[in-house]
Amino acid sequence: MEEFYDMLFKRRSMRKFAEGLTISEKEMQAIRQQIDTLIPLEKDIRVRFKIVKRAETTARFGEYCLLMYSEQNAHYLLNAGYMLEQMDLFFAAQNIGACWVGLAKPKEKQYDGLEYVIMIAFGKSRPQDFRQDIAECNRKEVEMIWEGEFYRDIADVVHYAPSACNSQPWRIVSGDHRIQVYRNTVIKSFIPAKKLPYFNSIDMGIFLCFLEIALQYNQYSFNRKLCGEQDPDKRKIKIAEYHLL
Ligand SMILES: Cc1cc2nc3c(=O)[nH]c(=O)nc-3n(C[C@H](O)[C@H](O)[C@H](O)COP(=O)(O)O)c2cc1C
Repeated sequence: MEEFYDMLFKRRSMRKFAEGLTISEKEMQAIRQQIDTLIPLEKDIRVRFKIVKRAETTARFGEYCLLMYSEQNAHYLLNAGYMLEQMDLFFAAQNIGACWVGLAKPKEKQYDGLEYVIMIAFGKSRPQDFRQDIAECNRKEVEMIWEGEFYRDIADVVHYAPSACNSQPWRIVSGDHRIQVYRNTVIKSFIPAKKLPYFNSIDMGIFLCFLEIALQYNQYSFNRKLCGEQDPDKRKIKIAEYHLL
């Protein structure tokens, strides 16, 4: 995945598309091929992807939507975030603008026996439509999300991960050879409280994708352990732990 490192800084949510530009047949073929190479976070969760015209959904922008369907096993939302973020970054590499869309729904709520999870709307964009200056990216200060003095080079990169309503639910505790990833449950957001765990779990999968790309790019070898997502201290739920070798 590290080949997408530069895209961590180029990507942004694309909601407006230059008139007259469309996705070519060749680009569509490349997108389909890329879907087949996506790396799952949990390989035992059955997933399917479908590309539909935007009109097949309630999304308000984009030429097409990439829909994800999944078995609803443990970690399926993390898995969705992790896999589809790879597509978000691939789209940026192809100058295809994309935006995660949690608010829209597709006509088809089930596919091949799997439940609809989330979509990314996409359409052809111009290189200049992408993020030109990462300094203008609106995110929390690293100090607010990253505890401990370890791996600050990684922190400076991964805090740019996208999240629903920019809620940035990730909290990290770093130690010697260790990165612990938590989901903060005390979030002020426009997302209804009932829906927050759903979207923020997808966000956490996106964050793990960013984290692993940054670690690989900086040549850190690591082992990942996913946690049970249960925690007596409900203000902060442990999601994953990385041991750096
Ligand atoms: C799971 C998820 C759902 C999202 N849903 C929507 C949505 O329904 N509509 C929208 O315009 N943006 C949506 N976004 C985009 C976020 O608002 C955006 O990623 C965030 O504000 C950060 O901005 P950036 O992506 O430009 O870096 C969603 C993002 C994620 C990760």
